[in-house]
Amino acid sequence: MNIHSYLPQWVGRKIRPRQVISHNWEDRPKILQHDVNLFCWTRSLAAPVTRYLEEQVQASLQPISCPVEKNNSSQQLSAARAVWEDTRSPEGDLFWKDVHNVTRDFLQFSKDGTGTLHLKVVTDDACSKFHVDGYRLRLFTSYLGPGTEWLPEDAVNRHALGTTNEQIVKKPTRFQSLCTGHVGILKGEIPNQNQAVRGIVHRSPPIKDTGQRRLILRVDIE
Ligand SMILES: [Fe+2]
Repeated sequence: MNIHSYLPQWVGRKIRPRQVISHNWEDRPKILQHDVNLFCWTRSLAAPVTRYLEEQVQASLQPISCPVEKNNSSQQLSAARAVWEDTRSPEGDLFWKDVHNVTRDFLQFSKDGTGTLHLKVVTDDACSKFHVDGYRLRLFTSYLGPGTEWLPEDAVNRHALGTTNEQIVKKPTRFQSLCTGHVGILKGEIPNQNQAVRGIVHRSPPIKDTGQRRLILRVDIE
């Protein structure tokens, strides 16, 4: 028996990535399957959360960026909330509880139980060129405004990454988006690490000329 008999089938070559779209958050461990590079939980936000956030973004909210730990995320998010709120409200409770729940659940995928959380209002096009990020896993949700846009494998020309969207997008009709409230877990590519699957090709939605505001949550883990 030669050494290759002991190696997983994907070693030395990349496999074709697939994406998992689910109504069930409990399906999220599917992101750890070797051929999956995106998990999307398709859900709707409660109306009071949306109303609360529409009001919140009228003020200038400073971006929040902080470390989070699986066993301490409640206290850490309470401190983050104090940056945005002077007085607490029941609607605010719903929003911050949701941020806490998805963050806590996502940190279960972190090897050391830690990550970095970013919560901010976006009014520009941010990363408007399709790309792959250099991290292991990222949780992403847009609580207000459109979510991340992504390409299924048959719609992307990976050789063109780094050039223009026109060259990267092979089939514009296959273009996909996370809707407001959907929770995505995106797999990236860490340089110089052999991993089975290529990261999901994605970009921020262009909103600059629309006057829209997005309120986004991002949590990165190594
Ligand atoms: Fe990105």
